[in-house]
Amino acid sequence: MRIKQVCVLGGSGFLGSAIVHKLSAAGYDIKVLTRRREASKHLILLPYVQVVECDIFNDAALTQQLSGSDAVINLIGLLQESDKVSFETAHIELPRRVAVICSKLGIKRLLHTSALPASQDASSAYLRTKAAGEAAVLAFASDINVTIFRPSLIFGRGDSFIGMFAKLIKVLPVIMLIKPDAKFQPIWVEDVAQAFVNSLGNIETYGQRYDLGGPRVYSLREIVEFVIFVMGKKRKVIGLNDKLSYYQAYAMEKLPIKLLTRDNLHSLEVDSVCDGAISPTLDVQPAALEAIVPDYLVNDNPRNLYNKFRGLAGR
Ligand SMILES: NC(=O)c1ccc[n+]([C@@H]2O[C@H](COP(=O)([O-])OP(=O)(O)OC[C@H]3O[C@@H](n4cnc5c(N)ncnc54)[C@H](OP(=O)(O)O)[C@@H]3O)[C@@H](O)[C@H]2O)c1
Repeated sequence: MRIKQVCVLGGSGFLGSAIVHKLSAAGYDIKVLTRRREASKHLILLPYVQVVECDIFNDAALTQQLSGSDAVINLIGLLQESDKVSFETAHIELPRRVAVICSKLGIKRLLHTSALPASQDASSAYLRTKAAGEAAVLAFASDINVTIFRPSLIFGRGDSFIGMFAKLIKVLPVIMLIKPDAKFQPIWVEDVAQAFVNSLGNIETYGQRYDLGGPRVYSLREIVEFVIFVMGKKRKVIGLNDKLSYYQAYAMEKLPIKLLTRDNLHSLEVDSVCDGAISPTLDVQPAALEAIVPDYLVNDNPRNLYNKFRGLAGR
């Protein structure tokens, strides 16, 4: 099966942008579906990339845009529900509809994104619906060549997790940390993107689910203390017990901008850790957090980047 035209849902996001860059460099024709083309300016100038506004929750519009594709990559995911879109709609119904449309249009390749600790009996609705989404897509595996990716926490320039802690650390003298012992196996966004691109034309990955984690397991406290260290700050980290973690999530859920919800807290009850190394089929050697994070946290403004370039140029 020769793949040329790839349609990416969620291609403007953090992981999506990294995937689209790699697909473009590899010479695929890419169509990114987005709610707002204006917000995807960073992709518009890439070679072979077309950014199209589309209501992906409308069957006719989605069918029209997927028509002509050889493969579809679905990256749509919400950490929090809104009045407009529920977890069910985004994580279960949408993947099922994408698979139905692929089947009708004869599109034979589908890459789908879940999350590492997704499971049908998780206490977090995010994780339960992600697991149900996997099942919905795998139900089409006899007709469509499906591959599912289950990343742990993804880090990289522009991430929301380490980025959010960096912002808090800048302004707060003390960090009150929910679930300080929750475990993650953070993986670099470029490594996750490489796994997607490597699998696209690889028949060994058909019908498979891949857990994606980096080289080391960290507790949430270790990650936050590392960010504090990299930023050169002195901050006290106070780990909250389960009861106080719940109250903090409950209070933050009521704010207009939800940095944290009780469902996010529930998703930290299960460790986001892989059973083993990344499958060799994907041909990815994941980079360490320590090798990547300092570069984008310390050099997070253009002036620092100019200084770096001047240094490299010997000026
Ligand atoms: N980041 C992580 O640490 C992590 C870890 C495990 C799994 N994942 C999964 O990986 C996938 C990509 O994550 P990400 O961090 O790249 O997310 P992201 O930056 O938030 O991007 C998700 C994309 O989905 C689209 N989207 C979001 N809400 C939507 C809505 N209500 N209606 C239509 N489109 C919507 C957005 O596209 P437009 O704004 O262009 O419309 C956005 O670009 C998700 O499925 C996520 O669950 C992420």
